[in-house]
Amino acid sequence: MSRSPAPPSAASPAGIRIATGGTVLGGPAGQQVLGPLDLTLTERRIGIIGRNGSGKTTLLRLIAGLVAPVSGQVSIDGIDPARDRRAAVARIGILFQNPDHQILFPTVDEELAFGLHQLGHSKPAAAKAVQALLQAEGRADWAGRSTQALSQGQRQYLCLMAVLLMQPATILLDEPFAALDLPMRLRLARRLAALPQRLITISHDPEGLHSCDRLIWLEAGAVAADGPPAAVLPAFLAEMQRLGALEGDDPAAPVLPC
Ligand SMILES: Nc1ncnc2c1ncn2[C@@H]1O[C@H](COP(=O)(O)OP(=O)(O)OP(=O)(O)O)[C@@H](O)[C@H]1O
Ligand SMILES: [Mg+2]
Repeated sequence: MSRSPAPPSAASPAGIRIATGGTVLGGPAGQQVLGPLDLTLTERRIGIIGRNGSGKTTLLRLIAGLVAPVSGQVSIDGIDPARDRRAAVARIGILFQNPDHQILFPTVDEELAFGLHQLGHSKPAAAKAVQALLQAEGRADWAGRSTQALSQGQRQYLCLMAVLLMQPATILLDEPFAALDLPMRLRLARRLAALPQRLITISHDPEGLHSCDRLIWLEAGAVAADGPPAAVLPAFLAEMQRLGALEGDDPAAPVLPC
């Protein structure tokens, strides 16, 4: 498939604009998960960091248009992703933190072809693209395989392939390497680094974040720091070390239980 990422139209502002009054999950009487945000994201590689429950996934879902803010607006290259779902699907790909929340179909081929059907590709064209992708990935034997018979890491990899196949201009990745083995991480990290698209990646791995153009640190639904990794990472790591020492029984204990 040779379709390149859809460029923003001349009339549309390029970039992601988030000017929201807050984001509540769990219904109108639910929990305020994100506070007011005012962010303009134009960089090509953006990382999002923060503690568990700080609102990282919710921020990605807000950008993808999967949750709406209580007030204000989100726009991606000029479109409102919550209102214009058709345009959003063509422009934004999201890899969920949990592949089981993403996978809809019983077989690998159907799962991969679904996004292409949504983009208007014919069934034979989508089937051909799926076959070519599996071949190129060295996963030709996955054709026709049950999605539920794949391991957790394989399911995550399948979801990532499905997103990449659609070639959206903006790709949102929620801990993309969490369940992958080391060779797969290295291979995918190289692959993602070479992509021309805008990538917004949530990660708990500081090593992979040094090369971001911009790093946003969320704390309790608000931006705690925002800037180049060289400025944000040292402060973040120092704070995480401090908190880890406070919560642990023994600050000198090894990080891994072995
Ligand atoms: N459907 C929901 N209804 C109510 N509250 C929710 C819902 N989903 C998430 N939350 C709450 O929103 C907060 C932020 O969740 P979110 O998943 O965005 O965090 P996160 O930073 O991605 O965490 P993690 O690192 O564990 O993935 C948490 O306190 C969580 O309990
Ligand atoms: Mg999360």
